[in-house]
Amino acid sequence: MATTHDAATSTNPLGDELRGGRTAKPCALVIFGATGDLTKRKLVPSLMGLAKDGLLPSGFAVTGFARRDWSDQKFRAELAEGVAQFGRSDTEAAFAAMADAFTFHQSDFGDAAGYESLKQKLAQIDRQHGTAGNRLFYLATPPSAYSTILERLAAHGLSREENGRFARIIVEKPFGRDLATAVALNDQVRQGFHERQVFRIDHYLGKETVQNILALRFANGIFEPLWNEKFVDHVQITVAESIGVGSRGGYFEESGIIRDMIQNHLMQVLTLVAMEPPATLSADGVRDEKVKVLKAIRSFAPADVDRCTVRAQYTRGSFGGEDVKGYREEEGVPANSTTETFAAARLHVENWRWAGTPFYLRSGKRLPRRVTEVAIQFKQPPHLLFQGGRPLQPNVLLLRIQPDEGVALRFGAKVPGPDVRIRDVRMDFRYGAAFGGETADAYERLLLDAMLGDGTLFARRDEVEEAWRIVDSIVAGWQQSKHRPAEYVAGTWGPDAADKLLSGGRQWRKP
Ligand code: BG6
Repeated sequence: MATTHDAATSTNPLGDELRGGRTAKPCALVIFGATGDLTKRKLVPSLMGLAKDGLLPSGFAVTGFARRDWSDQKFRAELAEGVAQFGRSDTEAAFAAMADAFTFHQSDFGDAAGYESLKQKLAQIDRQHGTAGNRLFYLATPPSAYSTILERLAAHGLSREENGRFARIIVEKPFGRDLATAVALNDQVRQGFHERQVFRIDHYLGKETVQNILALRFANGIFEPLWNEKFVDHVQITVAESIGVGSRGGYFEESGIIRDMIQNHLMQVLTLVAMEPPATLSADGVRDEKVKVLKAIRSFAPADVDRCTVRAQYTRGSFGGEDVKGYREEEGVPANSTTETFAAARLHVENWRWAGTPFYLRSGKRLPRRVTEVAIQFKQPPHLLFQGGRPLQPNVLLLRIQPDEGVALRFGAKVPGPDVRIRDVRMDFRYGAAFGGETADAYERLLLDAMLGDGTLFARRDEVEEAWRIVDSIVAGWQQSKHRPAEYVAGTWGPDAADKLLSGGRQWRKP
């Protein structure tokens, strides 16, 4: 008898609203590198969040493809632990109810026999779980294995879409380490898959508040008229983390904050803030506009890199009274490392909307708090009527991406009393207070969209390549200047040099 998971049996009354009337076709998900952290921490807990909300397709199964010699039982036990530890509330029961839909497939990534037996296994899964021949492959391995897996999937006909069945691939970041490697990887992906079959994940795009940037801008009439160089003085995009590199020193040493965060997450947020209204909300409608933003950002000339960017490394410091290591003392990091853990840049989007309005980007590890926000700072009124007292701060529209998700507007108001005194006050919208409930993890939305074949929240080939073009020009400048990165004490807002990027009395926000 087919054991299928029936979306209609969900107990979540919001099921239909969350699904927005969209139901994914049955499919089998194959996760390459399934013994890794991502599967346990993010992918399976997110799938169980979807199950709990009744959003998984009626026929659904997961196969973990990895080298380790694990049994189905061992795989399920690991996943159950992950769901208990990292899943939303009540997802353990969802996993228990469908644990038999999770199987393990042991093979080397390059072993042809492993792909032939995968095919047979998937055919059996189709019969047992009603997955209807639809396949979703997920590359959750170290990037060094991507090429082999892509080549094998194509060689064994697994990327072919026939008789209305889909075959899609989700690719995790890092998507290349510079433009040349990204182009090579994209070329290889193209040998097996059409662009519409490819889903390059940037988990920031799955965050509700990142998606809300488009809603705020284009579902309201009041912001868009001000959203340009005439009224906006500058934009600050901050992605700050309080954690250090932890056990990921080896990986981080090769990427630095520029490749780890700026090339993808910050560039994606920037495009959503700066793009023109799309003609439609179709995947290409949105991505066409996003890519135009990147194209309007010029590559840096080497001589400009020192003037327009800052990079730095954290040194030993303290958090809440506890001593923390400096970056060069972290596991897997050489004592003479020059990799940056903080970077900031001043960019210009050279088009009619943004000419002359700087965008300041910064991201770092071991900053005082974990906070992601976009601050749109408006110009001062043309004539200041109200003199005296504290100088007025400019109006700021603050998009709080995480935590304390919400939107705030800072403006001046009269202090009650006989004098005309103005003080800054805030209008504050909070997601939690307005909508309540638990927010789904970004991966939930992205996994569902990939099953639905909706690429809107995934990076298209040209987006990835344009972002690398910009980042490569910064990295080239850093390499040429041979300056060591500046230093900042762990637990502070980065090096002093970052302040110098801002001119004309502008200051970084200290959230
Ligand atoms: C990942 C980076 O893409 O994003 C990590 O590789 C970083 O270094 C993480 O910590 C941050 O994601 P989030 O969702 O916690 O802001």
